[in-house]
Order: sequence, then C-alpha cells, then structure tokens
Amino acid sequence: MKHFIHLKDIPANDLKKILADAKKRKQKRSKLSTLQLDKDCPLKGKLLIQMFEKSSLRTRLSFYLAIKQLGGGTITLRSNELHLGEGGESLEDTAKILSTYGDGFMLRTDSDEKADSFKKYLSIPIINGLSPSSHPTQVLSDIFTVQEIKKKPISKLNISWIGDSNNVLNSLIAASVKFSFKLSIGCPKRYEPKKIILNWANKKNKKIYVFNDTKKAVENADVIFSDKVISLNDRVNKKNKINDFKNFKVSKKLLNYAKKDCTFLHCLPRGSEVDDDVFRSKNSKVWLQALNRVHVQKSILLYCLGKLR
Ligand code: CP
Ligand code: NVA
Repeated sequence: MKHFIHLKDIPANDLKKILADAKKRKQKRSKLSTLQLDKDCPLKGKLLIQMFEKSSLRTRLSFYLAIKQLGGGTITLRSNELHLGEGGESLEDTAKILSTYGDGFMLRTDSDEKADSFKKYLSIPIINGLSPSSHPTQVLSDIFTVQEIKKKPISKLNISWIGDSNNVLNSLIAASVKFSFKLSIGCPKRYEPKKIILNWANKKNKKIYVFNDTKKAVENADVIFSDKVISLNDRVNKKNKINDFKNFKVSKKLLNYAKKDCTFLHCLPRGSEVDDDVFRSKNSKVWLQALNRVHVQKSILLYCLGKLR
C-alpha cells in the first residue's frame, strides 16, 4: 500500500511516474467538461474520505474533482464533528472505521504526529493534504505546472523561493532532491530552513542555496515561488513576523533580477508577500497552478490505490 505523506519518503521514480500519468490524463480530457468522467473510470466504486482540521478551498475542491473524474466519490469530514478527541473514541478506532468504509483517506492536519498515527492504524492509504511540516500534493503539482509552462524538465531550471521556511518550502526542498533542480531560497536569517532539513537535502542535492537577500535569491531565476508569511499552523506573534519579512516581498522591481520570462507561482491564499501588480502580471501563472492540482491529484490517487499504469 502506498501512502503520500512526505515527498522525501517517496521514490523519485514514483513521483515522475505520477507526473507522466497526470500529463497524459490532462491531455486526454481536454475536451471534457468538469464533471465528465475519464473514459477508463479507473476508480469506479471507490470512496475517498477527506478530513479537514484546518480551512481549505483549493485542496478540498481539487480532491473532490479528482476522485469524481476518476469515477469514484468523496465525503468530507470536519474533525470537530467526529467523536475523535472529544467524544472518547480513540484514533485507532476512528482509523479502523475509516478503513472499513473508505478506500483512501486525505487528511489536512495541525499535527504531523497525528498523520503518522493514522498511517499506523489505517489499512487504506493516507494522503497528506497539508501538515505543519509539509504540503506534498501542492508541490508535486507545482513541479507539473513548471514543466508544463517551461516545456522542459525542472532539473534544467533555476527555481527561487522568497518567503518563510514553512511546509511548502520543506516540500519544495524535498522536490529539489527528487527532481535535481537548483533551488535558491531568500528569507531573513532567523527564518532559514531547519538545519536537519538542509543537511538531509545538501547530502543529496548540491544545488540548494540560502540567501538573506532577495536580489541574490532571484538572480537569473526561471521561476519564483512565494507563500504567506503566516501559515495556518503558525503559533507566533503575527505582527512581528510580518514585520520581519518587510524586505522579503516579490515586487516588479525584484523581477528585474530574474530572467525576463520568469514565472511567478503562489499556492494561495496570499498575504502581503507579493505585490498585486506581480500577482496579476503576465508572469504570474497562479490560476493554472491551482487548476493543475486536480490533474496531479488524480494520479496521486491512482498511485495510492494501486491503479497507476
Ligand atoms: N493551496 C492550498 O492548499 O489551498 P487551500 O488551503 O485553499 O486548500
Ligand atoms: N504555508 C501555508 C500554505 C497554505 C496552502 C499554510 O500552511 O497555511
């Protein structure tokens, strides 16, 4: 059984196979409308249970469409409506019930330990739909978007990140190892990625650079990523943190240091880390980025449910 919790734990070849499948499926359904099923209906009769402990728009909708287009169905749970935690039911019992009714479990959680416990007790695959330490479905889909736009393997591109060392960046660092691309990170000194993550990555990919200067971080970039300074699971003084990032914003002026055709990506929702004229510029491909989550998550579901061809 294949789980999808952290990119670092998934073999590079599997990730590449998922992207190849997503590309084929996307091309094949170019003339179909939103709820029309893929011809082969590979997940006919299958149920994806989604559970959200935190807000979500894109992850929720894209998984809904993904399983539907594959011929299956989904139900969405909010953790505060279950017995888990408050009603005296153990996580193990909840996991057994989820496995009895469902074929796959997508969890957005405020605890990585909880995702690991579910993995231990489930007999169906678990997909991490965002945890404090990673956002793997988002980043794998972003690799797809980059390769689709640039029409070349991401290993041939210079990728930059301006912003916090959060879950999305952790997954991007893991992706830089799996897909061997150059990653330049721009963030304030005290918000650099954790040593344990950089040490792991640096052993495998010699192309990860950290700068405390945005211009250096985006020099010659093909793609610039950014994300909110305050993440869903952040327990910090928000005002202070936002102030710490006041010189780490993506502006038109900053884009001048990147390649002329540089693409701007942002997983959304956004804050003040990107200027509106960049977000709405022709360099910005954020809407395509959001849409592609449907296509890539379909192939992630197929991978987890043992149906990836
Ligand atoms: N990018 C992303 O995961 O968005 P949601 O929080 O809306 O799901
Ligand atoms: N880093 C952000 C991503 C939101 C999709 C967060 O965790 O809130």
